[in-house]
Amino acid sequence: MKAVSDQIYRRIDNDLYNAKTNTWWEPQNVLYLLKTSINPVRVGYAKRKIFDELHFDSTGKKALEVGCGGGILCEEIAQMGFETTGIDPSDHSLEIARNHAKLGGLNINYEKGTGEALPYKDASFDVVFCCDVLEHVRNLPKVISEISRVLKPDGIFMFDTINRTLVSKVVAIKIWQEWKRWAFMPPKLHTWKMFIKPEELKLLLLDNGFDFKEFCGTEPNVSIPKMLSFLRKRTKGVWTYVELGENFKLVESKDMNILYMGLAVKKHKDKS
Ligand SMILES: C[S@@+](CC[C@H](N)C(=O)[O-])C[C@H]1O[C@@H](n2cnc3c(N)ncnc32)[C@H](O)[C@@H]1O
Repeated sequence: MKAVSDQIYRRIDNDLYNAKTNTWWEPQNVLYLLKTSINPVRVGYAKRKIFDELHFDSTGKKALEVGCGGGILCEEIAQMGFETTGIDPSDHSLEIARNHAKLGGLNINYEKGTGEALPYKDASFDVVFCCDVLEHVRNLPKVISEISRVLKPDGIFMFDTINRTLVSKVVAIKIWQEWKRWAFMPPKLHTWKMFIKPEELKLLLLDNGFDFKEFCGTEPNVSIPKMLSFLRKRTKGVWTYVELGENFKLVESKDMNILYMGLAVKKHKDKS
């Protein structure tokens, strides 16, 4: 797998994270849906895997979130007990993240940078999270190799991203972003060609010194007609993002067609 071409990368608007209107933490803001509609499934999954199944103890352990944005996931990671660092290229988002952590009395180290060039020594972290970010980066192979480099042996990598399927083209691009009747996301938030098939990601993980553990799919908590009726209520102004977030969430599922999560563990150098 290669870095995406300039032609494709131009179709995604990663600059929207710098827009002053993107406040992340205001419930009326679209990005707050990361907290209400996505955090429950990914944080629940991460805790079950890391603590209940892998019996990891966060005491004195270091976690990194690559592409932390305004800190919506980073704060959950800090609350799991890790010494937490978040890194992101967007100055505006980092400022919001720092201010919000301060308000909540959370000690999180936020730094500017990209996943393609992590400014950390080899084997610096016990856990790395990269959620809702891999489908935004220009050079996915480089990001995976950097995440592997900064993880300690036996360190855990938890991710989520969006699959490149016909279903994701219709649901995540057409319905969620483009068709005005239902769209609730900015039109260039995602670009379909940058979505990642699980087999592509698995290959990159295996090529970069990871022991691949598993993928886990997700699906909306309601049927597609019900989801469409919820989205329509928002476009008609009957609901804001607040009501949308209260009623519409992703839940764990076997369905890998749209957003899927997963886990990999960094191997020791001598293990093949
Ligand atoms: C959808 S937001 C996800 C934020 C956060 N991970 C969460 O789930 O709450 C995508 C984030 O990826 C960041 N991003 C874009 N390109 C990146 C890159 N090359 N390396 C790291 N982060 C990047 C954006 O600035 C933005 O904050």
